[in-house]
Amino acid sequence: MMIRYKEPFFILETKDLSYVFKILSTNHLEHLHFGAKILDSDLNQLHTKLTAKARGVIDYDNSENKDIPLDLTPLEYSSFGKGDFKLAPLEIKMPDSTFVSDFVYHKHEIIEGIYASKELPTGYDDESQTKTIIVTLKDTKFNIYLDLVYTTFFESNVITRRTILRNEEKHSISIRKIMSMMFDLYGNDYEMLTLDGGAIKEGQKHITPVSYGTYINSSMTGISSYKHNPGVILLKKGTHEDYGMCYGFNLIYSGNHYTAIDQSSHGILRVMQGINPSCFEWDLHQNETFETPTTVLTFSDKGFNQLSHHMHHFINHHMIPRQFKNVERPIVINSWEGFYFDFNERKLLTLAKKAKDLGIELFVLDDGWFSTRNNDQSGLGDYDVNLKKLKHGLVGLASKIRNLGLKFGLWFEPEMINPVSKLYDKRPEYAVKIEGRNPSLGRNQLLLDLCNPEVRAYIMNEMSKIIDETKLDYIKWDMNRYMTDMFSAYVPQQGMFYHTYMLGLYNILGQLRKKYPHILIETCASGGNRFDLGMLSFGPQIWTSDNTDPISRLSIQKGMSYFYPLSTLSNHVSLSPHEQTLRKTPLHTRFNVAMFGVLGYELDFKYLSAFEIKTIKEHINLYKSYRKILQYGKFYRFNEDSPYQMMYQVSKDNVHILGNYQILALPNPNLEQVRIKNLKDNEMYALKSMNQKMTLDKFGHLISHALPIKLNPNKALFRLISRFKQLDNATEDVVLSGQALMHGYKLKQQFMGTYYNDQTRIMGDFGSQIYIIKESS
Ligand code: DGJ
Repeated sequence: MMIRYKEPFFILETKDLSYVFKILSTNHLEHLHFGAKILDSDLNQLHTKLTAKARGVIDYDNSENKDIPLDLTPLEYSSFGKGDFKLAPLEIKMPDSTFVSDFVYHKHEIIEGIYASKELPTGYDDESQTKTIIVTLKDTKFNIYLDLVYTTFFESNVITRRTILRNEEKHSISIRKIMSMMFDLYGNDYEMLTLDGGAIKEGQKHITPVSYGTYINSSMTGISSYKHNPGVILLKKGTHEDYGMCYGFNLIYSGNHYTAIDQSSHGILRVMQGINPSCFEWDLHQNETFETPTTVLTFSDKGFNQLSHHMHHFINHHMIPRQFKNVERPIVINSWEGFYFDFNERKLLTLAKKAKDLGIELFVLDDGWFSTRNNDQSGLGDYDVNLKKLKHGLVGLASKIRNLGLKFGLWFEPEMINPVSKLYDKRPEYAVKIEGRNPSLGRNQLLLDLCNPEVRAYIMNEMSKIIDETKLDYIKWDMNRYMTDMFSAYVPQQGMFYHTYMLGLYNILGQLRKKYPHILIETCASGGNRFDLGMLSFGPQIWTSDNTDPISRLSIQKGMSYFYPLSTLSNHVSLSPHEQTLRKTPLHTRFNVAMFGVLGYELDFKYLSAFEIKTIKEHINLYKSYRKILQYGKFYRFNEDSPYQMMYQVSKDNVHILGNYQILALPNPNLEQVRIKNLKDNEMYALKSMNQKMTLDKFGHLISHALPIKLNPNKALFRLISRFKQLDNATEDVVLSGQALMHGYKLKQQFMGTYYNDQTRIMGDFGSQIYIIKESS
C-alpha cells in the first residue's frame, strides 16, 4: 500500500521514501515528514511541539484546541490572510473582493494509477505501481475547492504533486498565483542548487546559501530554460555527490516557472513550485476549474547522485513517450554546422553517403529547406520546399537517403513567422504583436499566436503534409526566440497569455504524437533553451546546446545530468577549432564527451583526414557496442572534479564506463588514481582503456627530439609522415577486485616534459581517456 489514510495521518510511500502529513484540529494540514522511510510507530511524534505560547503570533481561532498559530506550523499548503505570514502559495481575489482565503480539509479519495490532466503532461504508469490521492480542501467561507493531487511512483522514489482549483460560486474569482506544490520543513542550514546560463552555456551549476528571506529560481522569458532551468535542489550544507541530504524539485512545464525557498525567523523553510505568478491573471467563473502543471519531488540521503538517479528513473519510465522507453536512439548526422543554409541535393547526398560508410543511422536535414530561407531573415511560417536547393524536392531527397540505408529526419520551427514570408503577407494577424507598438524581433522573427486555434490547425496541416509525403522518421522541433509583445485576441485576459500559449503548444505536440507515434521528436530551442520535463513528455531527447566544444560540453552535460538522464541529452561531434570557442580539441575528446548520451555528428566530413575518418569509424563501432549503457545506464558525477579535471561514469548490467577528462595540463602533475563507483566488493573486474593513437603533429617541433631524423613541422614532409605514422599512447589493461578499484586504481604517470615512451599517459590540454570496466569471470 503506497498511500494510506490512518486518521489523522496521510502516509505516502515509495520504495525508500515516506511523505507524511496530518489533519489538524483546525482542519488545516500539517506537513510532518518527507525523507527516508519511517515507521507507523513514529507517526505520533512527528508533529511540531507548540508547548509554549509564542510571542507576536496570530492565533487562528481562540476556541479550545484551535488556537494554532499557522505561522509557527509547518503546513502542507497554505492560504492567505489568516495568520500565516510566510510566502503564500496562493493569491486569489475571492468573491467578496478580498484576497483572504482559508482552505481546510474537506475530503479525500485514493485511486489506482495516475489522475491525468487533459491539457497538461502529468506522466504515466505502465507498471501499475502508482497510486494517487486527491485531498480536497474547501474555503471556510465560499464554495471554492482546492484539490491537492499526489501520485507516488514507487520504483522511481518520486512523488508528483499538482493542484486544481474549482469555483462553485456564482461570482468569478481571479487567480494571481497558484502553486503546484508547497510544504514546510525545519531548517536554517540549507543551500539551493540551480542550473543557470545562457546561449551556448546552458546548465551551469550554482550553489547559493539560503538565508532569511525568499530565494527564487524563475523564468519570465515565456520559455523554461537558458537563464534558470526549472529543476532545483535544496540541500543541507555540505551535501556532495555521494553523501548528504537533499530534496529535488522539477516542474513538468515549458513556460514561465517559479520555485521559491522562503526561510522564516522560526526556523521554518517553505518550498513552493509552480507557474510564475508574475503577470499571471486568470479569472475562474462559476463551475470552472484551473489545473496547475505537475511538480516532481524526490529526496536523497546519499547525495546528489542518488537524487539524480530517482529523477532519471522517473523520466525514463514515466515521462518520455512510452514508445521510446528503453529504445536505443539512432546515431545522427545533422546538416547544420556542416552547411548552414548553403546546401543542395548533391552536397547532402555526399554527406549522407559518407555518414552511412561510417555507421551513422539517421540523416537530418536542418534549417533552410523551404521558402526563401537562405539566411535567417525570411521564410519562417512557409512550408513550400526550395526546389532550387532540392531539385527533386524533399520527397526525392528522402527516398535517395533511404536508398542509402539511412533514416530521414527534418527540422521545423513551427512556432515562428518571419515578417518576410508568404504567411505574413497573407495572415499578419497570426503573429504575436500589439496594436500600436513595433514588435521586438528575435533572430528576425516573431512568434505565432498558438492561443489561436486556427494557427494551431495551420501548423498541424502544413507539417502533416510534409510528414506524410516524406514519411519522416524524425523531427527536430526548434524554437529560437524569447517571448515579447505578449498579446492574443484569443484570450479574455492578457494575464492568461503565457499559459494559454503553453496549452496551445502542448495541444499541437499532443496531436502530432498521436497521429505519428513512431516519429522520434528531438526538441530544441537555440540549443537547450527549453530543456524541461514538459518538452520531454512529447520528444524523448533534447538538443542540449549549440555549443559542441567538448570542454564547454563537460559542464553543460554534467549540469543537465542533475535532473535529466543521458537518454535525453543529444550530443554531437563537430569540427575543431570549434565555431563557438575557437578551441582546438582532440577528436578523441570530442567523442569521449559526446558518447555520454545520444551521439550524433554535425560537420562536413570533407575537412577530415583519412586518420580522422578511420578514428570516427572506430568511435561509432565502440558506441554501438555500449549504446544501451551510454543511453540508459546509471550516471555518476564525481566529487573529485576540479577546474582541471572532470570525470563521468555510467553503469549498467555489470559494465561500467569511466570518462576521465583533463581540462588543463598541469606541470609536473600529481600521481593520479581513479575511484570507480558502484562495483561489487568481492567481484573481479577487468579494467581496460582505449588505445587512442596520436599523430605526430600533436608534438610539433618536439618530435625531432624523439625521432632519428630531424623534421620541420612547417614542412610538407612532416605533414606527410604525420598522416601515416601514429604514436601509441599508454593504455591500462588490468584485473582487480571491486574493493581495489573502488578504493582507487593508480594510473600510469602523465607526460611531464622528461621523455616520451609508450607507457607515458599523454593527455595534455583537453585530453581524455575512456576506461571500460567489466566483471571478469
Ligand atoms: C538553432 C538550433 O539550436 C541549431 O541546432 C539549428 O537548428 C539552428 N537553430 C537552425 O536555424
